[in-house]
Amino acid sequence: QDALPKCVAPALLAWYDRDRRVLPWRAPPGVQPDPYRVWLSEIMLQQTTVKAVLPRYADFLRRWPNVASLARAELSEVLAAWAGLGYYARARNLHACARTVAEDRGGRFPETEAELRKLPGVGGYTAAAIAAIAFGARASPVDGNIERVIARLFALRTPLPAVKSEIEALAETLTPETRAGDFAQAMMDLGATICTPKRPACGLCPLRSQCLGYAAGLAEILPYREGKSARPVRSGTAFVALRDDGSVLLRERPLKGLLGGMLEVPSSPWFDGERSDPRKHAPAMADWRELAGLVEHTFTHFHLELEVRRADVPIDVQLTEAADEARCRWIHVRDLHGAALPSVMRKVLAHALELGSSPTRPDRAARVRPRARHRSA
Ligand code: ADE
Repeated sequence: QDALPKCVAPALLAWYDRDRRVLPWRAPPGVQPDPYRVWLSEIMLQQTTVKAVLPRYADFLRRWPNVASLARAELSEVLAAWAGLGYYARARNLHACARTVAEDRGGRFPETEAELRKLPGVGGYTAAAIAAIAFGARASPVDGNIERVIARLFALRTPLPAVKSEIEALAETLTPETRAGDFAQAMMDLGATICTPKRPACGLCPLRSQCLGYAAGLAEILPYREGKSARPVRSGTAFVALRDDGSVLLRERPLKGLLGGMLEVPSSPWFDGERSDPRKHAPAMADWRELAGLVEHTFTHFHLELEVRRADVPIDVQLTEAADEARCRWIHVRDLHGAALPSVMRKVLAHALELGSSPTRPDRAARVRPRARHRSA
């Protein structure tokens, strides 16, 4: 019935040559990109917007301008530099990958998708993106933007995630023999600037005349998505101990698992449903004061509500068994900005210490909800 989109790559590349976004990991036209920079950008951009990545990417490159310097860094430094970006397994894998490339591969990244996939933290999408962008291989990465562009271009009515493999096959057929990296990045730019999730600017789109979704009046509403199940709500109690000398008690989380290797405000375990008696989880012998409000944070698989208690304690305060002292340390409030604290813990500290926003990430004002006593999960 409908004619298939036939000359997507030429139209899109012509648009890209005119209107591409200038981004720091992109080499100027005709210049071979640095694989280290491309790899670093692709790891940071997983699950994270270009806007949030830009300042961190600049920080990382300033501190670790090449794979050898990143390989020499301590994991704790890399985690601290990553704090706030989320999905901390990415930072642990980033560090492991830098060491693999520096120590086992003489500092050179492999050039094929198959070899790239063997590196820590490099999955199918990232291997294809690096192969295409850094090495000019004909590979077809599909991220969320490209997924949406293709679902619209071909008016695919099957919902995600079932339609994903069809989208990947179509991406493959659209990818040109040369300039596969520019093609992938052009699709990303189109998705980010014109073929946006809401109110796409079809009037400006270089592919409009070929777009079956536009022709069918479906551009704005595709792709369909299978209903996601609601996130469970977990709750717990966080204990902020502020010592006379201006330092707070923090604890390193185990390397494996959620927020692995990052620092936390000592807290009770996070349970589905009812809180257990918080007193047995207090990390220090002190007079704990319960603060009004709840600190909330949404993770991929659950929503967290933390009640916060605070105690002002003397320098010789006794820690309890619940503290797990070997993993604890006292950090001065003025040094919190450089610590490996994830966003949820910055919110807890901001709430307890009455800072207007989270410690030195001014872009993230803490959101605290008045306490709802009864809440069904
Ligand atoms: N998102 C993921 N990779 C990207 C890239 N190379 N350019 C723009 N956005 C991206």
